[in-house]
Amino acid sequence: MASHSTQNPFIDQLRDLLNVFEESEADAAYFSPQAIRDSVPLSIQDDPLPDHALMNILKTVVVRTPKTANSRFYNQLFGGKENLAVIADMMVARMNNSMYTYKVAGPHVLIEQEVLRKACNSIGFAEGEGMFCPGGSLANLAAMVLARNTLDPGVVDRGFTGDTYIAYTSEQGHYSIRKNAGIIGIGRTNVREVPVNARGEMLAERLGALVQRDVEAGFVPFFVNLTAGTTALGAFDDITALSAIAKAHNLWVHVDGSYGASVLLSKRRAALLKGIELADSVTWNAHKMMGVPLTCSMLLSRQSGLLARSFSEIADYLFQENTDELNPGTRSLQCGRRNDAFKVWALWKQLGNKGYEQRIERQFQRRDQVVSAIESDADFELIMKPALLNVCFRYRGVDSDRICSALDQKGLGKIGHGTFGGKHFMRMVIVDPDIQIEDILQFLATIKTVADDLQCSDAQTAVPTIQQEAMNS
Ligand SMILES: Cc1ncc(COP(=O)(O)O)c(C=O)c1O
Repeated sequence: MASHSTQNPFIDQLRDLLNVFEESEADAAYFSPQAIRDSVPLSIQDDPLPDHALMNILKTVVVRTPKTANSRFYNQLFGGKENLAVIADMMVARMNNSMYTYKVAGPHVLIEQEVLRKACNSIGFAEGEGMFCPGGSLANLAAMVLARNTLDPGVVDRGFTGDTYIAYTSEQGHYSIRKNAGIIGIGRTNVREVPVNARGEMLAERLGALVQRDVEAGFVPFFVNLTAGTTALGAFDDITALSAIAKAHNLWVHVDGSYGASVLLSKRRAALLKGIELADSVTWNAHKMMGVPLTCSMLLSRQSGLLARSFSEIADYLFQENTDELNPGTRSLQCGRRNDAFKVWALWKQLGNKGYEQRIERQFQRRDQVVSAIESDADFELIMKPALLNVCFRYRGVDSDRICSALDQKGLGKIGHGTFGGKHFMRMVIVDPDIQIEDILQFLATIKTVADDLQCSDAQTAVPTIQQEAMNS
């Protein structure tokens, strides 16, 4: 597409790159690492590159970058393609403020406060507070720090005293809980993975029994992670029942709503998170269901003042003006911090609460259409009725991993796979409500074609169908 020069190199280059992106946006082309090395001069050379040569290289990179917001991408839980949010995020880079002080970030401090306030209200944290984190994993990390420091306020200064702290999450909980236990010194082996029921939800009686056993062994149970929207299945743990058990043992209750907390914006669907106001902390990623670009993640705490207690430091060079209230750096994980609030605030303003509610409804409706299509096709087997936007299914007789790899490497589309209850499945995430159902049906047809080809070429590797499994057991 020809573009007219504005004599402003910034705008011209941005427009050129955007045009290249938009033209290739519908693509699912696959490039191997070797193909990238062969076609992109990756090494950083000694001499400067002229603009023209450089732009060509950047365009080559843009074209070869996997496109994550089109009708061939169902691989991940994130989905940031709402125009206004993308524009706001690009402006964030252009404005380049750091979110530690009002002096440097100005209105964005107040904007961030407004988003955190809205999120706290949606949860039911009347006296709550929050902070933006670089992703749900680190929001979960911050929650574990708050829990540890609440149980033992002295640990921040003197370190651990030798007690063995124990954290609990379900077998379907996100891996960040184990990883974070390693990072904060609890130890990965001190994370108990509580078994789940057939829908992937944590079993309350098993949590109770594990905590009891640990208490009797002289350990210090301190934290339970409940998940609102598990990564593989989209399952919701029963917050009311589980938090009753946890609180009886004085555990900090964290709800990892990285994926599913956005459902709170829908009155019709919010019951999925019933009891969330009982939590001590909640992780909420707006970069998943709310349609804003990565990263946009919040850690919300029921009680105010805990963030400062865990994360404040003295920095005379930085916090020179205004009150701590206006300087979020006094209660953040980071020092220099990207502005992640502007994009979600801009989109939330545009849609309003009602617009978000409608958007969530459209996500669920689209999911239901996909579920019906899969259920009415004898070649597909739905693994379970989804609670959220993950449609988990398999193709009769062909291993899901192989189908996913073939789709990707043939440049036909991206979809992930998982395992639950011994069954391997494809996970199709319907996070973008604007993908047309016809296009999704077309993608399902592509899956069938690829699966049939695999079946023909390698009949030996066929996995048993659900019926065959039932007959064999
Ligand atoms: C349930 C859950 N928690 C945490 C995370 C991690 O979030 P992030 O990728 O923003 O670190 C994910 C990511 O998919 C998730 O599904």
